[in-house]
Amino acid sequence: MKTYQVNENGYYGEFGGAYVPEILHQCVEDLQKTYLEVLESESFKQEYDQLLRDYVGRPSPLYLAKRLSEKYGCKIYLKREDLNHTGAHKINNTIGQILLARRMGKTRIIAETGAGQHGVATATVCALMNMECIVYMGKTDVERQHANVQKMEMLGATVIPVTSGNMTLKDATNEAIRDWCCHPSDTYYIIGSTVGPHPYPDMVARLQSVISEEIKKQLQEKEGRDYPDYLIACVGGGSNAAGTIYHYLDEERVKIVLAEAGGKGIYSGMSAATIQLGKKGIIHGARTLVMQSEDGQIEEPYSISAGLDYPGIGPIHANLSVTHRAQILAVDDDEALDAAYELTKLEGIIPALESAHALGTLSKVDFKPEDIVVLTVSGRGDKDMDTYITNKR
Ligand SMILES: Cc1ncc(COP(=O)(O)O)c(C=O)c1O
Repeated sequence: MKTYQVNENGYYGEFGGAYVPEILHQCVEDLQKTYLEVLESESFKQEYDQLLRDYVGRPSPLYLAKRLSEKYGCKIYLKREDLNHTGAHKINNTIGQILLARRMGKTRIIAETGAGQHGVATATVCALMNMECIVYMGKTDVERQHANVQKMEMLGATVIPVTSGNMTLKDATNEAIRDWCCHPSDTYYIIGSTVGPHPYPDMVARLQSVISEEIKKQLQEKEGRDYPDYLIACVGGGSNAAGTIYHYLDEERVKIVLAEAGGKGIYSGMSAATIQLGKKGIIHGARTLVMQSEDGQIEEPYSISAGLDYPGIGPIHANLSVTHRAQILAVDDDEALDAAYELTKLEGIIPALESAHALGTLSKVDFKPEDIVVLTVSGRGDKDMDTYITNKR
């Protein structure tokens, strides 16, 4: 049977793999050998499930958004990852990875962050587990997501502003990888999305798959069937989307719509629509679609949303795109802002700017009245208030 899951060599079709410098080879190989055994062990599952329930507050609600449904002429459920502790889906992954890091005897944690949600989620679990935490964050993002920088610092993390490139997520990731190369033996790198060398994309997808596991149960209870007609999520690196679709990947009757950041328009030269603009290449250890120039130099992405401002994409999503399993839609800055204000007005929910891109696809899809749509609200909008206020609708 054709599957969209990772194969035993760490590839999704022609995408994925582990392209790392010699010095990290051992670290990545250790991780490849260890992650499945740990993630599937009873003791890990017990500790992970208990923390997700009692600390994160899972299961997150599946909320029938009546006024939004009326507006778009179908039945729209929102998967409320914004209600998790720390305000986004990122914590599902950091809890899992810090438990793995401890079992591997690592003492020092590093992470990259764009919107700051993964940084906050990492700083949070480091406080919880009493571990040293260093977060790399582009200087542009330090400025536009300042509330999250303050949280990370209060949680005891050291936030290092990165001033290379256009000072966003790609540059923070470069710096985190550089740090890892200097401290391969004691340091564990908690990657925040389904990117990086194998096994990270698969590991992060598995840790986020609790989202679709819950959707299945919740839809069965509410609708008497465990699958929707559509699943919709935004993609930066792709972790909330991977979690949303994980248990439906091979169920072709479920249509998948992924929203990437159109920025000021796909062909404006200021965009982060990686899947549509990208060509095959290698970034941060994986073969995937990459925004790059004719001679293979990575192009600087742009999005109003710090979490989607990345020139690569998870290999799982690159494969879903080239095989046409998923429909990829670009939502630009203005459309995302409109969608955020619309959700706030209709449902009293202020979404993260990243999630607003998922909401921005609703006007682009031709739904039938009987369609059941599940859209993941990956995070809450607290961190984006400055942007919302300066771009009033
Ligand atoms: C709320 C929120 N949603 C989505 C994303 C995008 O990441 P991913 O594609 O890994 O879900 C981010 C990244 O920072 C985020 O903070």
